Amino acid sequence: MSICVTGGAGYIGAHIVRLLQQAGHQVIVLDDLSTGVPTRIGDATLVQLDLGDTAEIPRIQAALDGCSAVIHVAGRKQVGESVARPAWYYQQNVGGMANLLLAMQAAGVDRLVFSSSAATYGEPNVARVREDIVMKPINPYGESKLVGEWMVRDAARAWGLRGVNLRYFNVAGAGWEELGDPAVLNLIPMVLQKLQHSQKPAIFGDDYPTPDGTCVRDYIHVVDLANAHMIALDYLERDERPFDAFNIGTGNGNSVREVIEMIGEVSGLDVTPEVTARRPGDPPVLIGDVDRIEQVFEWKAQHDLRSIVDSAWRAWQAGPRRIAL
Ligand SMILES: NC(=O)c1ccc[n+]([C@@H]2O[C@H](COP(=O)([O-])OP(=O)(O)OC[C@H]3O[C@@H](n4cnc5c(N)ncnc54)[C@H](O)[C@@H]3O)[C@@H](O)[C@H]2O)c1
Repeated sequence: MSICVTGGAGYIGAHIVRLLQQAGHQVIVLDDLSTGVPTRIGDATLVQLDLGDTAEIPRIQAALDGCSAVIHVAGRKQVGESVARPAWYYQQNVGGMANLLLAMQAAGVDRLVFSSSAATYGEPNVARVREDIVMKPINPYGESKLVGEWMVRDAARAWGLRGVNLRYFNVAGAGWEELGDPAVLNLIPMVLQKLQHSQKPAIFGDDYPTPDGTCVRDYIHVVDLANAHMIALDYLERDERPFDAFNIGTGNGNSVREVIEMIGEVSGLDVTPEVTARRPGDPPVLIGDVDRIEQVFEWKAQHDLRSIVDSAWRAWQAGPRRIAL
C-alpha cells in the first residue's frame, strides 16, 4: 500500500516511516522541513510543502493520488511558542488540518490517523486520564490539537472519513541511533544538553503533591508509539466506529527525579540536579489510562523507562552532541 506521512522527516514521523518501509509499504512524506531532516526518511518520496498554506491544496491532493491512508504527524508542538504566537499556531495546526482534509476529500483518500496530544486534556484532576473526560486544554498548542480532533470527527460525520485520533503522552527514546530526538524541548534531551555543557540538570519545582515532589509523567518509547500507528491503520479497515480516539502511553508514571536518576545510571555521569521554580501550567501528574487501546488494538507498550533512557542516550552519543566521558 501507499501511505502518506505528513511530518515524516521529524522525530516521531521518521520512526513511523521506517516501520512502514519495513512492512513493505510505499511512503510519501509531506514535510516543510522546518524541523524535519530529509535524510531520515530513506527512499520515501519527499514532497516539500507547508500544509498551513491554502495555495498548496492542489499539490497535497496530487501527492495523495494512489494513497490508501494518511498519517498526519506534521505540526507545531511548542507550548511556549504557541502562547506567544497563537494565530500562527492555529494557522499551522488547524489550517494544516483543514487543507489536508480538503485535499484528502478531493483525492478520495478516506483513512486518517492524527497525532494528537495529552495536552488536549489540560490539567485533569485524576490519577489516570481516560479518553472520555471533559477536555480543557490550557494553551493554544493543546487547543489547536483539540480542534484538529474535532475536524477529524466532523469529516467522519460529513463525508465518510474514517479517522483515529491518537493522544500521545511523553514520547522519548529512539528506535535507531540516527533517529534520536533532535530538539531539546522534552526532559531527556534537556538533561542531556545540560550534561553536555557540564551543567546541572534542572528540576522545575520539587514541591508538587507527588511522592518525591517532582512532576510525574507517562513516558512512552517512540517505537511503541510508532507501532500503535501500524495497528491504527488496520483498525481503520475494521467495520467498527468511523471515528475514535485513543491514549498512547504506558499507564505508568515516572517522576522527573526518577528520569534524571535513570539517565545517571545509564550514562554513568553525575546528574545531581538543581531545583528551580515551578513552570506555569505543569500539572503535577499526567498519566494515560490505556485500557481502551490495549483492548481494542491489542497493543501494549513493550519498553520501560530504562529502555527509553538507554536508547535516547545511545542516540545522543551517536550524534554531533556526544558527551565526552
Ligand atoms: N514529541 C512528543 O512528545 C509529542 C507529544 C504529543 C504529541 N506530539 C505531536 O506529534 C507530532 C510530531 O512531533 P515530533 O516530536 O516528531 O516533532 P518534530 O518537530 O520533530 O516533527 C514535526 C514534523 O512536521 C514538519 N512540519 C511542521 N509543520 C509543518 C507544516 N506546516 N507543513 C509541513 N510540515 C510541517 C516538520 O518539519 C517536522 O518534520 C506533532 O504534531 C506533535 O504535536 C508530540
